[in-house]
Amino acid sequence: VIDKRRPLVAGNWKMHKTVGEAVALADAVVAGVGQVQDVDVLLCPPFTALWAVSRRIEPSRIMLGGQNCAFEREGAYTGEVSPVMLKDVGCNFVILGHSERRRYFAETDQNVNRKARLAIECGLCPIICLGETLDQRNAKETFAVVGSQLEGCLQDLSDDQVRKVTIAYEPVWAIGTGQTATPETAQEVQRFIRRNVADRFGDEVASAMRILYGGSVKPANAASLFEQPDIDGGLIGGASLDASAFTAIVNAARC
Ligand code: PGA
Repeated sequence: VIDKRRPLVAGNWKMHKTVGEAVALADAVVAGVGQVQDVDVLLCPPFTALWAVSRRIEPSRIMLGGQNCAFEREGAYTGEVSPVMLKDVGCNFVILGHSERRRYFAETDQNVNRKARLAIECGLCPIICLGETLDQRNAKETFAVVGSQLEGCLQDLSDDQVRKVTIAYEPVWAIGTGQTATPETAQEVQRFIRRNVADRFGDEVASAMRILYGGSVKPANAASLFEQPDIDGGLIGGASLDASAFTAIVNAARC
């Protein structure tokens, strides 16, 4: 057993914020939690605002991530953004396989796996999102669904590659709905994820891996989620668009 992993709190801004709005939000987050040492803080603005936000957060400890990337480094892929380009504008992370990408843009585990391998080669740490729908939960398929997503997304990754991966457990029924998973429900699935990783990649890799919870995390429920043994922070959507709410969530993750 190792020390508790350093928490990661990531703001997924989704398709929100013009450049001017993004800079204002980034400045407010820097003012609030820019020098926090005991939590890693990550902002994931839309592509168009990455460079501007990168300049603003530079003097702080806050890190930058993309919300998606292409599965090739470069080429004739109209509309795509490569992990090389993300790295170039200052990203260290990239969110992959978010349920909105799976649902609206036909993203599959296979696709996520290919992107994850390339992202790691390019020096980015992928945050791979998994989670069951409400129908799947009601049909008692949660563990089967999450297990198979995990298997597909981490297919053929080496132990060293898996060390770069963060998993985000995001039950689809909890995203943007205000219906947060209870800490016990989230913990149960996240413990399952860690055991699954341990079976495939060994205890050492599994115990070092950060597993985030995402889905309607708010200042009021963050602490009770983050105190669970297998919840190492959060992927925050709606509440990350408000600097004071996001700051409160980051503070809830501090030891
Ligand atoms: P939410 O989104 O916090 O608005 O539920 C979380 C996510 O989609 O990452």
